[in-house]
Amino acid sequence: METKTPPQTLAPVDYNLTQHQTYAQGRALPPDAIRLYMARFAAHLPEARPLVGVDLGSGTGRFTPGLAEAFGGPIYGVEPADGMREAAEAGSGHPAVRYLAGRAEAIPLPDGVADFLLMFLSYHHVADKPAAAREIARVLRPGGRFILRSTFKDRIPHHWWRDYFPRSWEIERAMFPSEAEAQALFGAAGFRTVAVEHMELPLDEDLAAAVARLKLRAVSVFEHMTEAELDEGFARMDADLAAGTLEERGTYGDFIVFERAIA
Ligand SMILES: C[S@@+](CC[C@H](N)C(=O)[O-])C[C@H]1O[C@@H](n2cnc3c(N)ncnc32)[C@H](O)[C@@H]1O
Repeated sequence: METKTPPQTLAPVDYNLTQHQTYAQGRALPPDAIRLYMARFAAHLPEARPLVGVDLGSGTGRFTPGLAEAFGGPIYGVEPADGMREAAEAGSGHPAVRYLAGRAEAIPLPDGVADFLLMFLSYHHVADKPAAAREIARVLRPGGRFILRSTFKDRIPHHWWRDYFPRSWEIERAMFPSEAEAQALFGAAGFRTVAVEHMELPLDEDLAAAVARLKLRAVSVFEHMTEAELDEGFARMDADLAAGTLEERGTYGDFIVFERAIA
């Protein structure tokens, strides 16, 4: 039988293989959803404009232009996968955005340059997390804010698709930190926790469109599942969609806000 790496030792996801071709379409968000995140982030950032920001693990630039619109910039989108960065340059350009090759463990920016830094669903991909915490502290100015938008394993969302891929619970528990683990790691690098936000988000499209988008497989948990598991789950999902028994559920948009020590 086809097997994959056991969840305790998840293999890294290479966004240069296929994800860069489908991510922008598979994970697109409507402008209102981007604006909602910006408003929630703004509540934890200074009111002055412009603010200099870093979108660390910016991918295809899903949030980078929105950050520039909301906070002025410059916003530096730092992304290790060439394919993702090229898609960002082609589809998510903005006069106040610059995309840079780099990764969390070695951020290609000078000390103290940024008022804030966002990691949006990229932290779980970082191999050396203590090194990333040191780098984030280095590029933030004293008192600068770090927003960690992630899934946390103590509050994994029961997505509308979750029941079709039941092993995804176990994989995501291995993939994501708990809130306490994230706070301990950044606490050790001199960060103080300012807020823990638990956001509830409704499903913002009809189920048929959501199924079609999910089939692009632009979700990293799928990279840890077998073709047989995925085929079986999508077949059950198609049957339930046709029968009108697919259940609509929202998700979470949780994040932790940290502050870099002043001295
Ligand atoms: C799920 S995507 C999120 C992209 C974007 N933040 C978004 O929300 O659309 C995760 C991104 O993290 C990037 N990544 C992987 N390892 C990284 C690292 N060590 N440092 C920074 N980003 C990394 C991947 O290449 C990928 O583009």
